[in-house]
Amino acid sequence: MREKREFEIVLFGATGFTGRLIAEYLAEHHGDSGLRWAIAGRSAAKLEALRDELGLASLPVLVADSHDRASLDAIAARTRVVCTTVGPYARYGDALVAACVAGGTDYCDLTGEVQWMQRTIDTHHEAARARGARIVHCCGFDSIPSDLGTLMIQDFALEQWGAPCTQVKFVVWRLSGAASGGTLATVSNSIEEMGHNHEARRAMADPYALNPAAERRGPDGNFQRGVRHEAELDAWTAPFLMAPVNEKVVRRSNALLDYRYSRDFRYGESMSLGRGPMGALKAIGFTAGVGAFVAAMAIAPTRKLLERYALPAPGEGPSRDQIENGHFTIRLFGRGVDAEQKPFKVMGEVSASRDPGYGATAIMLAESAICLAREVGDIGLPAGVLTPASAMGQRLVERLRGANMVFDVRND
Ligand SMILES: NC(=O)c1ccc[n+]([C@@H]2O[C@H](COP(=O)([O-])OP(=O)(O)OC[C@H]3O[C@@H](n4cnc5c(N)ncnc54)[C@H](OP(=O)(O)O)[C@@H]3O)[C@@H](O)[C@H]2O)c1
Repeated sequence: MREKREFEIVLFGATGFTGRLIAEYLAEHHGDSGLRWAIAGRSAAKLEALRDELGLASLPVLVADSHDRASLDAIAARTRVVCTTVGPYARYGDALVAACVAGGTDYCDLTGEVQWMQRTIDTHHEAARARGARIVHCCGFDSIPSDLGTLMIQDFALEQWGAPCTQVKFVVWRLSGAASGGTLATVSNSIEEMGHNHEARRAMADPYALNPAAERRGPDGNFQRGVRHEAELDAWTAPFLMAPVNEKVVRRSNALLDYRYSRDFRYGESMSLGRGPMGALKAIGFTAGVGAFVAAMAIAPTRKLLERYALPAPGEGPSRDQIENGHFTIRLFGRGVDAEQKPFKVMGEVSASRDPGYGATAIMLAESAICLAREVGDIGLPAGVLTPASAMGQRLVERLRGANMVFDVRND
């Protein structure tokens, strides 16, 4: 058993757009479970106002700044888990990860910044293992449906056929959602960093950038960049914006799980835009639109114009209505062969009836924090810089099913 700490979870960044949704979720869904939690951020006045809005007069408020290491060490020492929404993480996250590693404190976040995750892996993985800290990135829409969806169908294949799928295709089937100012600030920061930082560009271009340093190789090429017709799905697909992140996270899980999905495992993500000529046209239009957005964000003057006149500012985001009426459905198609070389197929589905980036993400990050605090902390699982699948695995799948998300798997 680990030592008992004053708090199970400290929610850092509670006053931000996503942080506030997580605070509301914890208050509403875990208020009766005796959860020992606190909200933290840089402004005592904003935190106290949030506490009043939540109607939780006794909820502790902790003040800390991302650039003040002593204030972060003090938080890490008092809690089992730090759950943070203070991003862009590449700008604000280094000292907090270091404080959690030093304090043997578990940590979960919503980063999707490959270059930053590669830095935390290379800098902290061994120390985190030694100190018993689980540092878990990507606990939101990026990359939980990808990472836990793949784990779910691989465990099913291993149970049914004694062999994993050697190929999994993740396809965004339906999606309705919008982005917050904080997310767009993070996208902007990452694109800007890639413009002047060769290492960041290299990390993004390497399909195995998040694998352990000595194991950055495998059979996959880079993410899908153009339109494709997937004959077996009879659908036209376009690049999925988060594929360059999610694919690398799934490959890291395979490596950290001792290649449970095999060393020949291939994984890719795309977005389905439908069948026939209409599907093809939509896929071409979508691909062109994404390309134009990335190009505009890569050039400083157009980026500044977009930030000033077209995009939400940090702290702003989709309306309550958009969050509650948003949804997503992901389908995962797995293929493998059993010991007699007989082929098999598996299909998985991950979905939620909430906006993916905020409504569903708030549930996924909050449940990850609780899973770390209550389910995996004391049972001797390995520590280090981990992924959702390698840190929490099926325990988190079960928690998310309990929170009304769908994780389904069957023979295809
Ligand atoms: N991966 C996913 O699926 C996913 C989904 C949603 C969001 N995200 C990521 O989550 C992050 C947050 O997004 P958001 O829209 O919630 O952002 P946001 O509304 O701008 O919130 C950022 C939070 O960080 C706090 N903060 C800023 N500077 C700080 C400092 N120096 N010290 C301490 N706290 C500081 C802010 O405090 P104040 O309130 O005092 O300003 C605020 O609480 C972004 O990186 C975004 O990309 C990822």
